[in-house]
This record gives sequence, C-alpha cells and structure tokens, in this order.
Amino acid sequence: MRVAVLFGGASEERDVSAASASKVIEALRERRHDVVAVDLSRGRLGPADERELFASRIDRLPPGRAAATDLADIAARSGLNEVDIVFLALHGGSGENGTIQSLLDLAGIAYTGSGRLGSALAWDKDVAKRMMRAAGVPTPDWLMSPAAADAVEAAIGYPLIVKPNGQGSTVGLTLVESARELERATELAARFDAEVMFERYIPGRELTVSILEGKALAVGEILPGAGPLFDYTAKYTAGAAEEIFPADLSAARTERIQALGLDVHRALKLDDYSRVDFRMDEEGRFWCLEANTLPGLSPGSLLPQAATASGIEFPELCERLCAAALGRRRTRTDD
Ligand SMILES: Nc1ncnc2c1ncn2[C@@H]1O[C@H](COP(=O)(O)OP(=O)(O)O)[C@@H](O)[C@H]1O
Ligand SMILES: [Mg+2]
Repeated sequence: MRVAVLFGGASEERDVSAASASKVIEALRERRHDVVAVDLSRGRLGPADERELFASRIDRLPPGRAAATDLADIAARSGLNEVDIVFLALHGGSGENGTIQSLLDLAGIAYTGSGRLGSALAWDKDVAKRMMRAAGVPTPDWLMSPAAADAVEAAIGYPLIVKPNGQGSTVGLTLVESARELERATELAARFDAEVMFERYIPGRELTVSILEGKALAVGEILPGAGPLFDYTAKYTAGAAEEIFPADLSAARTERIQALGLDVHRALKLDDYSRVDFRMDEEGRFWCLEANTLPGLSPGSLLPQAATASGIEFPELCERLCAAALGRRRTRTDD
C-alpha cells in the first residue's frame, strides 16, 4: 500500500501527534508499505526532517501554537492524491474535530479512523454527552457556559471539573474545590475554547475502553500517580502514570464497561477505532467522560496497549487501520 502519514498541525497536541507518526511510519515500513510523512504545517518531509521527527519527544508541557494549516497547498505539494491511504496520526484541533476529515472527503482521499460527522460529534464534549444520555450511557451531570456561579453550584456542586468543551490531553482542565476558584478555572478553560463545561467530579478509578473494528479490546486502568487526574504531564511523562491491561475488574464489570464503550462508539457514529474514557465511582458505577476518535498511537499509548493485550501487535494494528480505510473508500467518496 502507498500510505501518507499525516501528522503535526497547529494544535496543542502537535508533539503527541509527532510521537504517534514516527511509530506508525516505522511499523508500516516494517510491513513493507510505501510510506511518506506529511506535516500538516510544513508539507512532505525530506530525509533530514524525518530524522528530526524520529528523534523528537513529547515535552512535559504542550507546545505553543505553530502555523495554521493550508491543506490544499499541502495536498498538492505532498502528493496526497497519489497514495492509497492517508493515515491520520493527528491529535486534537482541526485534525480530530472533523475539519481535516471533511477536506479529505472533498478531495476524495481515503483516510483512517472516523468520518467527519463522528469526529465532530465526539470532539464536542457537550454534544457527545447528549448522545451518551440518549443512548442510556451514564455521564456526569454538566452545565455549559455562560452560567452564573450560583447556577453551577446548584446544578453540580463542589468539587467539580471545569474544562474546555473542545480540547484534548487534559489541557485547560481544573479540578475546582470551591466557588472561590471557579472564575480562574473558567478563564483558563476559555483560553482553549469559547465554550466551557462545568462537570460533576467523579472520584474513583480511571478506566478506558478501546474499540477496534466493532469490538471492545482489553479494558485498561490508569493510575495517574501524582494527582487525582490523568493530566498532560501524567499522560506523556514516561513512568508518571501506571497503566494496567487488562484492568483488575470482575468479569461482569468488564463486560458492562465494554458494552458501554461500544454503545458510545455507535451512538457517536464512529468508525474502525476509538478510545472511550470512563470513571468508576466508589459504588462501582461507570461514568463516561468522552470518546477519543484519534487517540495516541505510539506502541506505549493506551489503545495500542489494549490491542497488544488482546493479541494484536502494533504493526498489525497499523495495517488493519489502513485496510479498514481502504475497504470503506468507495462509500465515503460517493456521497
Ligand atoms: N468529571 C470528571 N470527574 C473526574 N475526573 C475527570 C472528570 N473530567 C475529567 N477528569 C479527569 O481529567 C482527564 C481529562 O478529561 P477529559 O474529559 O477526558 O478531557 P481530555 O479531552 O482533555 O482528555 C480525565 O482522564 C480524568 O482524569
Ligand atoms: Mg480524555
């Protein structure tokens, strides 16, 4: 297969994307596919740029914003039309919210993962939670901005989570213990999205269900280490969080959370793969926080770990994502 691995872009998750891309490229080349790397901000990479990509690592804090994307220009200069598949190693922003998916649909270029609608539904946490509720999947109570502090307190109470509606990697998110801290947390979240969500805090365990080709993989548990939240530093600092696959759950609970994960994947109209994040409270109830349509794809990322625990090694995973995209090619470009 001829594959262009698209990564980078201007989102807060650019570093995470480069980390995924370098591993995906390596795996697909190992399987003898013809692979080029295309940075959404810079176009097709030459050998020297590629070496830099492979050597790069995720910093403790997210990077500043890079130049915006000019896909038409990049597609023309990078030969995206000449490959069979665009592998989306993007995370966050226009790579994950349906924008790139729409542009690729318009250009008639096949790509991995969910389509434009599913991507947009999952990216908008407020809309995604409404879909979860409609599908009977429990999700913590929430309120959207603008909301008066009294209304937030009455509807949700403390402690609560304040987060940008569209963002990933726990950027701009705060655990707020009292009314005093609400304004500052709201201002922080508003830096990343005009819409801010106030959500009931669910103490307990952090679990994740990865979906591949319509089936749930091994459930994972994340022990964030330093704090109660799985924050950016915990996510991307080696050894900062402990991740356990399969999670230590009873068979009945495992089945239940996997079924909920699949329900969310279907309710949001996602394709091929996704990772659905949950909290489990002290009574053992599951609460869905969000679905990730383009979760991290380094071998050590959560979804690849779930795949490995379910008997699917990383190169095979990458190849299966390409094959699924190729199989769907006709349906997306015909509409
Ligand atoms: N309502 C909540 N209750 C408890 N923890 C939460 C809640 N919302 C978010 N978190 C914590 O913050 C992390 C990131 O939140 P999430 O909604 O998944 O946003 P992101 O898109 O940034 O990953 C979660 O993995 C969890 O550790
Ligand atoms: Mg998350």
